[in-house]
Amino acid sequence: MARTVYYTASSVDGFIADEHNSLDWLVDTDHDLPQDHPDHYDNFIKDMGALVMGATTYLWVTEHEPSSLEQWSYEQPTWICTHRDLPLPAQGHVETFAGDVAELHPRLVEAAQGKDVWVVGGGDLAGQFLDAGLLDEVHVQYTPVVLGGGAPLLPRRAPLRLLGVRQMGDFVAARYSLRTTG
Ligand SMILES: NC(=O)c1ccc[n+]([C@@H]2O[C@H](COP(=O)([O-])OP(=O)(O)OC[C@H]3O[C@@H](n4cnc5c(N)ncnc54)[C@H](OP(=O)(O)O)[C@@H]3O)[C@@H](O)[C@H]2O)c1
Repeated sequence: MARTVYYTASSVDGFIADEHNSLDWLVDTDHDLPQDHPDHYDNFIKDMGALVMGATTYLWVTEHEPSSLEQWSYEQPTWICTHRDLPLPAQGHVETFAGDVAELHPRLVEAAQGKDVWVVGGGDLAGQFLDAGLLDEVHVQYTPVVLGGGAPLLPRRAPLRLLGVRQMGDFVAARYSLRTTG
């Protein structure tokens, strides 16, 4: 069965963005990540059939990559969770959604056509899928930095099961499952 996976980079102290919503600690730092590593983004994305992200994450993408408003940055159909009327890319499959993620999930799974669903973030959106019992796995790419504050990785309380941990360059790639069954 297709999995619903929250895959994200995080600081070692569990933040996915700093207090100014900045990812400069991730994108502006030279990390030597082996591209053929199974946890590398280039390999991870191949298994993803549909994406879902929150409004802040979407705005970060469109601000940092303005061409994404012409041609969406991802091949996969993407849903943006927002209550706002945000400008959407001219080309590419991007829809907005507002409401209970349990209503959205079947659409994501159908769009993914047997591949996995990537919950891009942020942390609370991943938490909404967790609350609904719809989050299967959490893949965290721990970046060698501490931020001391910011947007939390996954602001919920839930037991996790470690599936595996691997070194990827100077990152630690950890994979966890949430569901106790299956
Ligand atoms: N380190 C990484 O790899 C990584 C990955 C992803 C994100 N990030 C960063 O982490 C930060 C996360 O920001 P964030 O915590 O604000 O999270 P976010 O999930 O990106 O955005 C939150 C917003 O999404 C909308 N939303 C969420 N759930 C909704 C729902 N069920 N229905 C309708 N709208 C919903 C709301 O905006 P409205 O006001 O529009 O309704 C909410 O304020 C960003 O800076 C992002 O760039 C980092």
